[in-house]
Amino acid sequence: MKNKVSNILKHGKLGLEEIVTLLRSDGAERTELFSESARIRRKYVGNRVYFRGLIEFSNICDKNCYYCGIRRDNKEVERYSLSDKEILDAALYAFENKYGSVVLQSGELSNSRFASRITRLLKEIKKLSGGKLGITLSVGEQTEEVYREWFEAGAHRYLLRIEASNPGLYAKLHPDDNLHSYQRRLECLYLLQKIGYQTGTGVMIGLPFQTYEDLAGDLLFMKNLDIDMVGMGPYIEHANTPMIDYKSELLPIKARFELSLNMIAVLRILMKDINIAASTALQAIDPIGREKAVKIGANVIMPNITPGIYRDNYNLYENKPLSTDEDDDSKECLEARLKMVDVEPGFGEWGDSKHYFERRKPRGSVRKTLRS
Ligand code: 5AD
Ligand code: SF4
Repeated sequence: MKNKVSNILKHGKLGLEEIVTLLRSDGAERTELFSESARIRRKYVGNRVYFRGLIEFSNICDKNCYYCGIRRDNKEVERYSLSDKEILDAALYAFENKYGSVVLQSGELSNSRFASRITRLLKEIKKLSGGKLGITLSVGEQTEEVYREWFEAGAHRYLLRIEASNPGLYAKLHPDDNLHSYQRRLECLYLLQKIGYQTGTGVMIGLPFQTYEDLAGDLLFMKNLDIDMVGMGPYIEHANTPMIDYKSELLPIKARFELSLNMIAVLRILMKDINIAASTALQAIDPIGREKAVKIGANVIMPNITPGIYRDNYNLYENKPLSTDEDDDSKECLEARLKMVDVEPGFGEWGDSKHYFERRKPRGSVRKTLRS
């Protein structure tokens, strides 16, 4: 008799129980899972990997998430904020190196100075690249007006990880106050979709208190939300955070890595035409972690192009690749490493989420958005 994983893959029904079985698979079953996810990736989104030059432009954050190394109460971090010129230089570097797009990421601030600064930068980046550089924002929860202003200024993708889609688990990872509301985060995802962004979310994998059912629920959450892009990766503990107290309860780091690959593979099977990023946290555990993710279903890589002197202070978690590892993300190096896993670099291309365009195609008279 064929194994359980084969049966599930053959019948195609992916409910919570089936997903849990796939997430738990190892050995020959896992190989089978990976070959199916790789096949689907090739069939639906092709053989190319797209680049987003990641600019971590500030580690100043108003929030206090229990897991994060740059949380407000961590007084050990040296805070920085890149100047406009440094950000624009990094964007120009991305453009000249044919990365196709940039991601502007920072800690979360929500004041009007911050909002207008981003608007100005978006316009400048569009200008310096003759409109050719794609721009993703990843700067947290904002008001509808601000999201709209940025969309109109040229941002076309937005990443906002839900972190944990189970509200009970979310509550364990965040302070219990208005600034860290699960409901508000969800609302923001709805807003982003309504405004017209290609919308990305994601979760951390291997968190304390997290179960396989939670993770299966995360994947179904992404599917139900009809999300366009996902970035998810292993949780990596950080000594100067409250969650370090639960270190002894974590899966070994290798197991968190393996589980993250399983998550990516199952997500590719569940949502065939979305963009899936190979997260930097994978690379923090295994130097070729991102390539391993690309091999089994991911199709986006985010090379870090934050200037070296700042990068070492954007320490979300321990062992985050440092500026001294910079060469790993050079264009030549990326190209050579991708060859190893038999995919081709999509230099100079936006590589937008196919799912986004499918989702927005008129179906009868009803356009498919979240709440319609
Ligand atoms: N381990 C892994 N990922 C983390 N992030 C924050 N802290 C950690 C950690 N300790 C992730 C969150 C956030 C993204 C910018 O970094 O998912 O959304
Ligand atoms: Fe701030 Fe994001 Fe870290 Fe939370 S996860 S503390 S919002 S940078």
